[in-house]
Order: sequence, then structure tokens, then C-alpha cells
Amino acid sequence: MAIDLERRGSIAVVTMNRPEALNAFNNEQLRVLAETFDEIGNDGSIRCVILTGAGERAFAAGADIKEMKDLDGAGGLTFGRLGHRATRSVEELPQPVIAAVNGFALGGGCELALASDIRLASENAVFAQPEVTLGIPPGWGGTQRLTRLVGPGLASELILSGRRVKADEALRIGLVNSVWPLDQLMGEATKLAEVIAANSPLAVRSAKQLVRLAFNGQTIDGLDSEARAFGEAFTMADQKEGMTAFVEKRAAVFADPA
Ligand code: HXC
Repeated sequence: MAIDLERRGSIAVVTMNRPEALNAFNNEQLRVLAETFDEIGNDGSIRCVILTGAGERAFAAGADIKEMKDLDGAGGLTFGRLGHRATRSVEELPQPVIAAVNGFALGGGCELALASDIRLASENAVFAQPEVTLGIPPGWGGTQRLTRLVGPGLASELILSGRRVKADEALRIGLVNSVWPLDQLMGEATKLAEVIAANSPLAVRSAKQLVRLAFNGQTIDGLDSEARAFGEAFTMADQKEGMTAFVEKRAAVFADPA
């Protein structure tokens, strides 16, 4: 996948561009995403960022299951940590990030949206943390950020069931700020980015950090535990079964734990 970076005046648009796989991420693409955000962070002429997906079907369908399927415990831990590096490069960017969620935002895709400061969605957007259906827990911050955003009861339901949430429900539960017809989504995200970009960049940066401070609390400790649990999942049979079943296009059959 390419990570496209386009400048529109003081606004940067970052597009996850691999529509044939619904913008699913492998190792290399995650690294490039993190580097792109690092580059933006060093460019004072960029005042606001819009993160979106190429095509009309997906923001991002998460981590590339076909690549992730054969990871071992050490590989899972490394991949999880790289996912944290990428999501933290979004969250800790000095400039605000608006996620323009234009379709599926699943697993790591949902987690990238959660790491953004503001989420706008298209009417066809679908959110989920479906990791448990693949034999792993969420691994790029979903256990921490979704819980803080929508509360522990709802987050538990969504994370433990893997249930999909459509745009109207996402709006109702506070997962997104507003919902737009797909063809208006980028226009609306741009309008909001322009309002933000016209404000004092120093005050905006400071306010972003302060909101994060209120939001994050103990998130960093939680993220560390999440990364360990994610790596450990790759030493277990459920991960092999869950991901092999996805690739073979069949339902996974998970054995009872010993
Ligand atoms: C690899 C993926 C993919 C993924 C879709 N594709 N999601 N490939 N990894 N995450 C590929 C499909 O294999 C297919 O390619 C093509 O994209 C189109 O997808 P289809 O399944 O044919 O489309 P559709 O039937 O419309 O279903 C769309 C979908 C489904 C509901 C989004 O693709 C799906 O459930 N994808 C998996 C989503 C998911 O579970 N994401 C979480 C991943 S775990 P081919 O070549 O086969 O036709 C994760 C963990 C993060 O993100 C933490 C990691 C550290």
C-alpha cells in the first residue's frame, strides 16, 4: 500500500491507499505511516491533518491478516508495538488529526480512527474491533482508546463480541462526531480543518495536548499490557485457527481452553 501525502495549503491529507485489500496494513506500510506522521510533525506550515482511505469502501480493514497469520509470539509483539508506534504518531502529532472514515474501519483501522482527535464518518462507515473472531485481542490501542471514548460497558460489548457498528449507531454512542453522505465527507472534513487551521497554531497544539492529557490518564500503562497480550496470542492455537479460517473463507472453530 502507498501512504499518500497531499498538501492543500496548510492542510495535509494522508490517504491509506491499497483499495484492492480495503486498505489493510502490513509491517512496511505501518512503518511508512508512522514516518509520514513524523514528517508532518516536523513541518510547522501544516496546521491540520485529514486521515482517510482510498476508494469508496474502506477507511482501513485493519492489519493484513494474510501476512499476520504466520507470525510467532515475538513477531506478534513486534507487530503490535509497531502498530502502537503508528497510532501514537497520530495521537501525539502536534497538529490535530481529523479521521474522515469513508467505509470499513475494522481492527487496526478503527484503532487509527480512535487515535485521531476528531472522527467524521460517511453514511456507509462501519466500525468494529473484530480481533477476538481471529483469535487475538485488539492490538493497536483499541482496548484503551475505545474504552475511554465510549465507556467500559459499551467498549466491552463491542470488543468481546466483535460486533459491527454502523454510522448512525457510531454517532449515537459518541464514536464519531458527525455523519455525511460519502460524496460530502472530504468537503466537510476540509471545512473543519480550515476552521482549525485559521486559529492560533500554538494555542491549537497546546489545547490538543491538554485534551489528550484529560483523555489519556493511564493509557500508556494499558498500552504496554495490550502489546504483551497481543504478542502472546501469536503463541496460541486460536490465532492460527482464526486467521487461517479468514484466509480459507470459512468460519473459525475455536477449541475450549485447557
Ligand atoms: C488482508 C484483507 C483484509 C485484511 C480485506 N481483505 N480485509 N486482506 N487483511 N484485514 C481483502 C480480502 O481478502 C479480499 O481480497 C479483499 O480485501 C476484499 O475483501 P472481501 O472480504 O472480498 O470483501 P467483502 O466480502 O465485502 O468483506 C469486507 C470485509 C471483510 C467485511 C471488510 O474483508 C473482512 O472481514 N475483512 C477482515 C477485517 C478484519 O477482521 N480486520 C481486523 C484485522 S485484525 P481477496 O484477494 O481475498 O479477494 C487487526 C489487528 C490490529 O487489525 C492489531 C494488529 C497488531
